Amino acid sequence: MTKPIYILNGPNLNLLGLRQPEIYGSETLDDVAEACAALAEDLGLVIRFHQSNHEGALIDWIHEARGQGAGIIINPAAFTHTSVAILDALNAFEGPVLEVHISNVHKREAFRHHSYVSLRAEGVIAGFGTEGYLLALRRIKTLVAA
Ligand code: DQA
Repeated sequence: MTKPIYILNGPNLNLLGLRQPEIYGSETLDDVAEACAALAEDLGLVIRFHQSNHEGALIDWIHEARGQGAGIIINPAAFTHTSVAILDALNAFEGPVLEVHISNVHKREAFRHHSYVSLRAEGVIAGFGTEGYLLALRRIKTLVAA
């Protein structure tokens, strides 16, 4: 059976489409999940799409992906800039990890320029809007196949 790709989303991304649409756009997280599911089917990938406002829940999904998951695409949201715990969890995962940010974090406040997760990620996509998730899915297919 094909191992799933985990697509994990951090705090406040449940408000996508509602919060700061000038930065994050008008699509909701459900729209993103649907677009990911449709592309995954085309690519022959299976996905598990999750969001939580709680660091521990994200860590539990990363642990679940150990052994069971082929790869992880993660938008850790604000935890990107603060969470050594998420970095440690990702370091315990064997497969490829891709980091996605909807906005171009490098064009924003200085505190968003540092990412703990980037120390582990094979690649980072930032500033491509929600399309970044779809680009990451295409890339992780290549990485998983390699
Ligand atoms: C974000 C960027 C983070 O700095 C911010 O805290 C978010 C979303 C993005 O997708 O652009 O919540 O990860």
